[in-house]
Amino acid sequence: MTDTIFKPGLEGVIAGETTVAAVEQSSLAYRGYNISDLAQNTTFEEVAHLLLYNELPTSAQLAEFQTVLAQLRPLPAEVIQMIRLIPTEVPMMDVLRSAVSFAGHFDPVKGDSPDDLRRRAVWLMAVCAGVVSARYRLLSKKEPVDPKPGLSHAAQILYQALGEVPDETSVRLLDLTLTLYAEHEYNASTFACRIVASTMSDLVSGIVTGIGTLKGPLHGGANEAAMAMLKQFDSAEEASEWIQNAFEKKQKVMGFGHRVYKNGDHRAHILEDELRNLAEQKGQQKWMAIYDAIKEPMVTQKKIFPNVDYPCGLTYYLLGLPIDMYTPLFVCSRVTGWSAHFIEQAENNRLIRPLSRYVGSSAREVVPVDKR
Ligand code: SDX
Repeated sequence: MTDTIFKPGLEGVIAGETTVAAVEQSSLAYRGYNISDLAQNTTFEEVAHLLLYNELPTSAQLAEFQTVLAQLRPLPAEVIQMIRLIPTEVPMMDVLRSAVSFAGHFDPVKGDSPDDLRRRAVWLMAVCAGVVSARYRLLSKKEPVDPKPGLSHAAQILYQALGEVPDETSVRLLDLTLTLYAEHEYNASTFACRIVASTMSDLVSGIVTGIGTLKGPLHGGANEAAMAMLKQFDSAEEASEWIQNAFEKKQKVMGFGHRVYKNGDHRAHILEDELRNLAEQKGQQKWMAIYDAIKEPMVTQKKIFPNVDYPCGLTYYLLGLPIDMYTPLFVCSRVTGWSAHFIEQAENNRLIRPLSRYVGSSAREVVPVDKR
């Protein structure tokens, strides 16, 4: 094979074509809509519809989408029973991975046509949100809360987690993060889902694969790791000292850098502005001083910019959410992008099976075991 190329981590390799999103240095767009336009002018349900059905919904289509989501929202009782069995110290990402897999045995959607897959994706949106909220309640020594009719998806997640109708700011910011996290073309977890689709396996298996992949701190787990890093510090001075030590130790700083974006993550810019307003509104400017004490040297000394996970971790923290819940909330959003890619792969499929270059032992003969 003359035209074989080898790139560690497939860096810079175009591994397929997609109509779902375009990730460029200059812009991020979902199905042609710029992310800042979407962030300002749509809700997450509209973005989910765009990703799954290729178009932003009309008012009637949005109402229909919300009705279907509401119908599919109640978590099977068996899933809640199963969550109760999982020890409290188990990370919520692991609970989500197990619970989504288990919920697959109670899948209310029959069939595997593209429309069946889209409906199953909407059901998985409800399952992921329901598992996160139910787990949070049980960890808080409280019983899971039934869905409250009429709430948006973001409001429903918070309502079922906190047991009360959430404030407008929390809903708007969670909704924004769900839009920003929804889709990012061939990132690791999405590519993993496409591999599952390419073998003609099922969507639940694809989403469970995505959850397992996103968990890693080099990927979606970075929003939790970034906030855990910030929580070490009581002051900006402490953070400034820490980051210089990190440079000396060549330590990876969570929430920074990106395989594609080398001049900054469009989503981080959008969210950081909102985060600064939130910190101001909550009298938490101390956290922004610590945040900037890490960010400034990363940008000025290393030219490594925040990715979306850096502002997102602190945003969720200032909303009063537990760190263990941050990457699961990423899943509640990215389940839409994963599903859109799964469906796209299934509709125009070629088994994904790259080559590897063998660098192991040279040819050798077997010596019988009694002579080894
Ligand atoms: C997400 O792909 C996506 O789109 C993912 C995502 C999505 O929406 O799906 O955007 C979500 O996962 C964002 C990324 C979250 N991960 C982190 O924040 C973890 C910390 N980041 C790094 O591990 C790193 O930046 C990666 C993994 C994100 C990207 O790594 P690359 O492209 O493999 O780059 P690299 O590791 O080869 O780094 C190039 C240089 C290295 O220095 P040298 O060895 O050449 O001297 O930059 C340095 C790295 O050490 N570097 C960092 C750094 N990121 C890169 N140094 C310190 N801290 C960092 N965060």
